[in-house]
Amino acid sequence: MSYIPALRYESLTRFYDPVLRATLKEDRFKRLLVEQAALQPKHRVLDVGCGTATLAILVKQACPEADVTGLDGDAKVLDLARAKIDSAGLDIALAQGLASEAPFPPGSFDRIVSSLMFHHLTTEEKRRTFTRVRELLRPGGEVHIADWGKAQGPAMRVAFLAIQLLDGFETTTDNVRGLLPTYMTEAGFRGVEETHRETTVFGTLSLYRGVAP
Ligand SMILES: C[S@@+](CC[C@H](N)C(=O)[O-])C[C@H]1O[C@@H](n2cnc3c(N)ncnc32)[C@H](O)[C@@H]1O
Repeated sequence: MSYIPALRYESLTRFYDPVLRATLKEDRFKRLLVEQAALQPKHRVLDVGCGTATLAILVKQACPEADVTGLDGDAKVLDLARAKIDSAGLDIALAQGLASEAPFPPGSFDRIVSSLMFHHLTTEEKRRTFTRVRELLRPGGEVHIADWGKAQGPAMRVAFLAIQLLDGFETTTDNVRGLLPTYMTEAGFRGVEETHRETTVFGTLSLYRGVAP
């Protein structure tokens, strides 16, 4: 199984939540993503690359009747996620697996969300994962993604070098070139759009959506 852990090195995973809280307006953009997903009771929702489950928890809190599952390749980060979910007293399922091989039958979900995972994937992995995500959505189901987007100007391009040095250039360059929507469309999503972008200390962060045919 091959994946890049939350902060590149497994030994740093336990620091992921404090680092994110200190450097990004995490709560704000994740809440925007949840709002954008327009969740309804009984929706089946998958958080791909859920990490410590911050987004999955926001999803469940926004729509307690939704059936929420988090998937991540990293067993250690899933232990942290389980502890957070249990201390919040929520019912969220967790599964270990690679996003491109997500172990669910086709059409299992109404919404698939993902935050800060796609920049951990090579171009080929991004393409395979978008295809898998489309297969896992029911017709008319939606994907909602928050990740690093096309740099809005030279300052944002330079700021993003910090992420590239941490996570590697191979997986992050597609993001800063603004290619995620292209790969989504190529995987068969309709109505692909960038719905929001914001300036951060690490560059431009974008939200995207797409609809499964
Ligand atoms: C930067 S963290 C983001 C975690 C969380 N979504 C958030 O927004 O805080 C990226 C996560 O994606 C997971 N990941 C990376 N590549 C993956 C893959 N191919 N399949 C499943 N999970 C993956 C990592 O283990 C890590 O937990």
